[in-house]
Amino acid sequence: MAMERFQIKPAVYFGTGALAALEELEGKRVLIVTDAFLSGCGLLDRVRAHLPGCAVEVFDQVTPDPSLTLVAQGARVLAGFCPEALVAFGGGSPMDCAKAMVEFGKSLWPGPRPRFYAVPTTAGTGSEATAFAVLTDTQGGVKYPLVDDALLPDAAVLDASLLAGVPPAVTADTGMDVLTHALEAYVAAGASPFSDALAEKAAVLAYGNLKDAFASEGESRAKEQMLLASCLAGMAFNSAGLGVSHALAHALGGRFHVPHGRLNALLLPHVIRFNAASPAAGIKYGHLAKLCGLAGNARALAAAVSRLRQALGLPERLCACGVEEGAFAQAIDAVAEAALQDRCAPSNPRAAAVADLRAILKEVG
Ligand SMILES: [Fe+2]
Repeated sequence: MAMERFQIKPAVYFGTGALAALEELEGKRVLIVTDAFLSGCGLLDRVRAHLPGCAVEVFDQVTPDPSLTLVAQGARVLAGFCPEALVAFGGGSPMDCAKAMVEFGKSLWPGPRPRFYAVPTTAGTGSEATAFAVLTDTQGGVKYPLVDDALLPDAAVLDASLLAGVPPAVTADTGMDVLTHALEAYVAAGASPFSDALAEKAAVLAYGNLKDAFASEGESRAKEQMLLASCLAGMAFNSAGLGVSHALAHALGGRFHVPHGRLNALLLPHVIRFNAASPAAGIKYGHLAKLCGLAGNARALAAAVSRLRQALGLPERLCACGVEEGAFAQAIDAVAEAALQDRCAPSNPRAAAVADLRAILKEVG
């Protein structure tokens, strides 16, 4: 075996009352990066309550799919306030925005990098444990993934009580994203025994808890387990990489603005069947299927993902996601080309040509 490297960066705080981890920032200058909804609904007060004696500034302008313009605006706020710590609070968008703000802010502010706490309020992106941030060029309709170890948060604070009010539809979309992270990382080209351990646990937790998390109101153990699965899956794919489900979801999401997890949910079964032609991937899918209590083969795993998607009320075709048939037919070649160029495509376990990607797109169109 050639030399490889594996690293886990963020310290992870989890369990009841995990928000108390923020109290180690007592008396510091803290910039909170979040969105207007979280800032106005009372949840932000729970974060503030754990920042005793801190000088707190809030940047709550984050919108879904953060744009380059938004990040530049946030970087100026960061450089003006000179925080000792930054708390990214929310779903994937505030976290991605905060990561990019720190990166862009370096050129505006010569001070030391602020300590970076990531506090997720959905179980989805796993962004609290990854060196990735996805930004959108709103004018060009293109998504730019930034990848750098410097983007990794120092601490991930997993407090499941923050998920109590997440609407079921969001739990469904984001939860299917978690499952896709785990399944793609497990068979990805960069997978190792270390990332496999994380991906296996993430997949079993997500597959076993997503339906109950979707059905539960308020706080629940299922939501807590999904939050752990999300972070574990983030650690797995941060090391192993992802695959063509994500490559296609990025390409489609940049054009049609369908939620990321919903796209993965409809693509994943097709991608599993495509990848299963690779013997090594087929064996791993079979092993994972067994761990999930299914028959030990890729077909059973793909079918189970489809059944789960159906149970969550998610669509199985793009046309049911508000994508107009004519517009899709016109865009399909460009989407396949863009997916091939996406940074997630090379780590897919089976090499995919444009024709393969177009065929998968036709199956979901
Ligand atoms: Fe994802």
